[in-house]
Amino acid sequence: MICRGFVVLEREMNSSFPRAIRSTISPSSLVFKRPKPPFFAALSRSISVSSMPTSPNPQIPLFLRPPKFSSTLSDLQKWQEWAKSIALSVGSKFVDIDNGPDTILLCRELKWLLEDAVEDKSTVPELGSAKNGRLVRLKADIEELYVLWKQRIEERRPFQYIVGCEHWRDLILSVQEGVLIPRPETELIVDLVGEVVLENKGLGDGIWADLGTGSGAIAIGIGRILGSGGKVIATDLSPVAASVAAYNVERYELQDKVEIRQGSWFEPLDDVKGALVGLVSNPPYIPSHLILGLQAEVGKHEPRLALDGGENGMDDLLHLCKGAALMLKPGGFFAFETNGEKQCEFLADFLTNKLETSFHNVKVVYDFAGIQRFVTGFHN
Ligand SMILES: C[S@@+](CC[C@H](N)C(=O)[O-])C[C@H]1O[C@@H](n2cnc3c(N)ncnc32)[C@H](O)[C@@H]1O
Repeated sequence: MICRGFVVLEREMNSSFPRAIRSTISPSSLVFKRPKPPFFAALSRSISVSSMPTSPNPQIPLFLRPPKFSSTLSDLQKWQEWAKSIALSVGSKFVDIDNGPDTILLCRELKWLLEDAVEDKSTVPELGSAKNGRLVRLKADIEELYVLWKQRIEERRPFQYIVGCEHWRDLILSVQEGVLIPRPETELIVDLVGEVVLENKGLGDGIWADLGTGSGAIAIGIGRILGSGGKVIATDLSPVAASVAAYNVERYELQDKVEIRQGSWFEPLDDVKGALVGLVSNPPYIPSHLILGLQAEVGKHEPRLALDGGENGMDDLLHLCKGAALMLKPGGFFAFETNGEKQCEFLADFLTNKLETSFHNVKVVYDFAGIQRFVTGFHN
C-alpha cells in the first residue's frame, strides 16, 4: 500500500494494470502560507475573478504532440537500456525514504513513457532486439527523453507531469506543474452525483459547482452525466489550474456544459447564490504540519495550494460547508472529499449538529479502499 497524498492506495500492481490505475503518488516542501480570510469576508471579497482563463498556456500532453522528431531504433534502444538501468538502481530506496515508487513501478512508467513518445506503439516491442538504423518517429526529441527520465528519478518529478497527463475514469486529462494530479478515489464523487441525478431528474437539469477544480476532472465527469439543461461552474484560485481545466473542458468539447471561473471558492459564484442544485469539492485537506513528510513526488512537486488545509486540514472544508448553506437551493446536494475518518466524522457532526437547520440526510461515504472519505447531504 502506498500513501498517495490523500489516500492509501494498493500499489502491488502487475504489469497488465491499466494506466488509469497507474499513479505512484503519495503527498512536502514549498512553504506557501495562504491567507485564510474569515468566512463571510471571503464570500464577498474578490481576489481575482475572470470567467475564461487565458494564461498561462497549458502544455499539450506528450501523446497528443505531433511526431516532429525521429531517432534510429538502436539509439532509442540505448536510451531505453540507460533508463531501465537507473530505474533498476532505485530498488526499494524511495519506498524506504517516503513510500515512493520502487523499481517495478518505475519500469512500468518507462514503458508508458515510451508508448506516449513514439508515433507508432508497435515499435516498442521491437526495441528489445533493435540492431538497425531504421528511423522511429517521436513526439519528443531523444535528448528530451534523457532529461525527462533523469527528472523522474533524480528529482522525483511525478510521472504524470513528465508525460503531461493522467488517466482518470474514462478521461485522459492534461496536467502540469501547478495543477494537482487527480486521484482515483476522487472518481467516486462523479458516481455519487450520478446516483442522486438518477433519483431526481431536477438535479440533472440545474446548475452545479465544482470548487477547487484543479484539472477540471470532477467538473468534466459531472458535465458528461447531466441532462440537457444541466451545467457545471468550476472554480479555482490558481490561474494555472483554471487554464488547464479550460483546456481539458475544450478537449472534451464540453464548453457549453462546464464553465471555468478563476477566483476563491464562492467569490466567482455571486450570480448563482442560492440557485445551485449541487455543490462538490475536493479541497486541500492535508494538515500543514504533515506537508513536509509527504512523498517527494507530491510534497516537492504538487502545488501547496492544492494540499494544505491549514492547521488540522479542515480550514477549507469548514468554509465550504458554511458556504453550501448559502449557495444551494432547497433540496440541493453536496459532496465533499476529506482526508479520512477523523475529518469525515468531524464534518458530519458539524453539518448535523452545528448547521442542523441547513442540512439533512448527512452521510459519510467510504472510498474503494474502505476508508471513510466523503461527506454528502442535502440542503433543507
Ligand atoms: C485537492 S485539489 C483538488 C483538485 C481537483 N478538484 C481534483 O480533485 O483533482 C484542491 C484544489 O483547490 C484549489 N484551491 C485552493 N484554494 C482555493 C481557493 N481559495 N479557492 C478556489 N480554489 C482553491 C487548488 O488550486 C486545487 O486545485
